[in-house]
Amino acid sequence: MNIQQACEAFKLLLEEQQARIAGMSAEKVDFTKKETVTIGLIDGDGIGPIIMKAAVRVLGHLLADEIAAGSILLRPIEGLTIENRMALGQPVPTAVLDAIKACDVLLKGPTTTPMGGTMESANVTLRRALDLYANVRPVAIPEEGIDWIFFRENTEGEYVLGSRGLDLPGMAVDFKVTTDEGTRRIARAAFEYAKNNGKTRLSIVTKANIMKKTDGKFTRICHEIAEDYPGITVDDWYIDIMTANLVDPAIRSRFQVFLLPNLYGDILTDEAAQIQGGVGTAGSANIGDRFAMFEAIHGSAPRLMEEGLGQYASPKSILNALVLLLRHICRQEAAQRLETALHTCPLTPGPGGATCAEYTDALMALL
Ligand code: IPM
Ligand code: MG
Repeated sequence: MNIQQACEAFKLLLEEQQARIAGMSAEKVDFTKKETVTIGLIDGDGIGPIIMKAAVRVLGHLLADEIAAGSILLRPIEGLTIENRMALGQPVPTAVLDAIKACDVLLKGPTTTPMGGTMESANVTLRRALDLYANVRPVAIPEEGIDWIFFRENTEGEYVLGSRGLDLPGMAVDFKVTTDEGTRRIARAAFEYAKNNGKTRLSIVTKANIMKKTDGKFTRICHEIAEDYPGITVDDWYIDIMTANLVDPAIRSRFQVFLLPNLYGDILTDEAAQIQGGVGTAGSANIGDRFAMFEAIHGSAPRLMEEGLGQYASPKSILNALVLLLRHICRQEAAQRLETALHTCPLTPGPGGATCAEYTDALMALL
């Protein structure tokens, strides 16, 4: 590719992004008024089928009455495996995407992302195809007074064109995109959450001293939205110092709600999950206006599988994601029961501890 061709490719990318902005606004689904809710179930790769088996067992138990009555439909969706995706050359095969779109919400095991090449991560494709703009990740350590929730922008930043960078002789260029409406909607989601859940502090995290245009816009628009929420104190941080803050026990419990662009959110939420007890512990919600997908925050753990230790995979992250799913579809009582059981279950899943199945048995006994 030469510079002329790169400019033409760049022009197309900009036009595509403009079209994306035009398609952004949608009506929100009201789950209190829906007669049936269809929950799609996708196993994923690696440890995915092992932890999803645990999650489906728990879900089937918690909503048994509604499943029997037909107001909750559980629908397994096949074909989102690395083998099938590579064979078809599609990060999310068309038939799988159609099946997902016929559901209301999705519970999904981790999917493997090939390193390099051009195959996009299935997660990124799904977040974009379903316009799941809010990645919501709670992290709680009650004994330390930590009750964090991260609102990570999920469809823009470095991710939206992450597989569409330009390779020129001797150099490579990737793109980062921040839009006005894309920022407004994630900011609104974070401030609404704060307001409705008695939170008094919201921290915006960027690197606006370096990424002046994109992060500069993100920060400015978040402050504009903040004007509608006078009860919430807003502060600004750069991502580097925030990663340091989170390992400082003297100050970290003072943070409450975090609002941040995509890549910083990716990184900071792994750090936060690790502080909570490991990336195997935190759940993740990907929420759009029409659709929502709930998943483990971690990947498919190929090393654990290679070592033959797959049965020790922790289901805690996907079960925390299930708590978020139940809240999202307004099944508050079931969500609360599961959350309490997760906090009180004495077993620790993992090599040297309980297997996934043993942990799930112990958890079920508490439900
Ligand atoms: C996450 C994951 C994904 C991301 C990967 C699997 C594409 O790390 O959900 O945090 O980078 O967003
Ligand atoms: Mg991540």
